[in-house]
Amino acid sequence: MVKRIAVLTSGGDAPGMNAAIRVCIRAGLYYGKEMYVVYDGFKGLVEGDIHQVTKDFTSDIINRGGTIIRTSRLPEFKQPEVLAKAVQQIHDYEIDAVIGIGGDGTYHGLLSLAKAGVNVIGIPGTIDNDVASTDETIGFSTALNTICDCVDKIKDTSSSHQRCSIIEVMGRYCGDLAIFSSIAEAAEMTVTYDHPVSDDLLFRKLRKIKSQKKSHAIVIVSENLLDVNEFAKKIQAETGFETKAEVLGRLQRGGSPSAADRILASRLGSHAIELLNKDVFNRVVGIKDNKIVDFDIEEALAMPRDIHKPLLKLIDMLQ
Ligand code: F6P
Repeated sequence: MVKRIAVLTSGGDAPGMNAAIRVCIRAGLYYGKEMYVVYDGFKGLVEGDIHQVTKDFTSDIINRGGTIIRTSRLPEFKQPEVLAKAVQQIHDYEIDAVIGIGGDGTYHGLLSLAKAGVNVIGIPGTIDNDVASTDETIGFSTALNTICDCVDKIKDTSSSHQRCSIIEVMGRYCGDLAIFSSIAEAAEMTVTYDHPVSDDLLFRKLRKIKSQKKSHAIVIVSENLLDVNEFAKKIQAETGFETKAEVLGRLQRGGSPSAADRILASRLGSHAIELLNKDVFNRVVGIKDNKIVDFDIEEALAMPRDIHKPLLKLIDMLQ
């Protein structure tokens, strides 16, 4: 029976991770478990930065951005000797199960632990919304609101100067932040991996918008697709539309989590503890059709991601 549970956050931080840490600790204590936190993700696991916590540790954190137990990226975790050190620490601290909050990279780290005999549970936390086993990840809603807030502000200045703005948003290789923000912000054009747009079409549309004397044009582009600064110069040269590039960057990851993220984190985290309380391991939790669900971690990692075809069609209708 699981007695001691450790919680860590890993990969890019996401608003709502603190809410997830909070619920894991509180729900674990509710079931009489001893609760531990690991600082700095898998790096802290390897180094033994593992500490027992009480309910007080979780006071006043639900509204805080980032992760109070910090995070890291540790590609070396794949190396057998690094993994073996983490497993040794888990045994030394007599930890019965590890909960990892993060994205796909975190799930891969958890899977390596599971294969080494450690009991694990994954909770999806990333602004990218690129985890196939859940409709929504913790942090996506807040990042989307942040993007909308930024685009509203860019529109103000863009309209005053009659400019075109090329805005790069995060998402790694997933277009969800670009797609959802484009709909919410009535963007003139959207470019993502799953919604490519030829230069020719883009230039034609922007020339038309300029000829209609519209006050601005907003083009939202997913990161890792093109160099937006170079692309802005090209658009200006091809269309005559004065064009500025804006890379929103890591500010998309910061800020107080939205109510939706706090609630999602609380629902997912409590389910993670429910599973451990029933001695169910090596699962990842998620939300599907507003129901909290869980899947085998290996199966979850093999699932194809939903590319939101109806939303891509909606974008075409709107633009
Ligand atoms: O996974 C979250 C994310 O913000 C991605 O959108 C982005 O590609 C990446 O992390 C950036 O990571 P870092 O801050 O480590 O450079």
